[in-house]
Amino acid sequence: MSLLADLRVLYHMVLKPVRGTSHAERLESFYSGQAGDYDEFRKRLLKGREEMYRSLQLPDDAVWVDMGGGTGSNLEYLSDQIPRLKKIYVVDLSSSLLKVADARIQSRGWTNVETCEADATKFTPPDGKADVVTFSYSLTMIPDWFSAIENAHRILADDGQIGVADFFVSRKYPSDGIEKHGWFTRNFWPVWFSSDNVFPSGDHLPFLNRHFVKQQQSQHRAKVPYIPLIRVPYYNFIGRKSDAA
Ligand SMILES: C[S@@+](CC[C@H](N)C(=O)[O-])C[C@H]1O[C@@H](n2cnc3c(N)ncnc32)[C@H](O)[C@@H]1O
Repeated sequence: MSLLADLRVLYHMVLKPVRGTSHAERLESFYSGQAGDYDEFRKRLLKGREEMYRSLQLPDDAVWVDMGGGTGSNLEYLSDQIPRLKKIYVVDLSSSLLKVADARIQSRGWTNVETCEADATKFTPPDGKADVVTFSYSLTMIPDWFSAIENAHRILADDGQIGVADFFVSRKYPSDGIEKHGWFTRNFWPVWFSSDNVFPSGDHLPFLNRHFVKQQQSQHRAKVPYIPLIRVPYYNFIGRKSDAA
């Protein structure tokens, strides 16, 4: 971690206006200047990723799609399992982040990992079905996040598994099993993150529970670099596809 790298990232996150007429252009405008510094800063911002990825059950010869996979850094958590999988697709709309992922794939010698510049709401793996689909802090950046979850449900094999980690704020009156956040939390974080086009929602967990059979669900709070005293809520969800959903 260097202060200069942090300042570069903070400039892109806090000061630089995001431009573009499409979602993909806006993502590229946001990420192109910080792709090289992305992993180091996000290690301190995006918590719970390792726990979520390590909770997945990846069968031998599995097809795994990491939606909004960015630099592919999350593959490192499962690097010992990668050789026994059939195929891994890192799907993202930011070409700058995918370039970092390509360099990682090459340097690690992962012959069964491929990057795909594609939209998570529409992507279908060439194999047709996936055994595992993951979203790590990508749903909050996908405007039609509900389409992305429905697409994951569509491409998952019947016994397939979904894993999600992301920021959230609760509804004012949350459903059972979801913690209730106070006024400040529910209002501060959406405003804070909105300049980066990140939209924490109270609806992800109810929607995931509606579409998948829950295996694990947990809610936590994490420190945000350079913001003292307050902590941002995040969740982890692991579920199985349910044909009855
Ligand atoms: C906060 S980053 C998380 C990246 C990575 N999953 C991680 O854990 O570090 C959100 C990612 O979602 C990607 N993204 C946003 N909307 C997308 C979409 N519709 N389709 C594919 N990727 C998308 C962004 O480009 C970005 O890489």
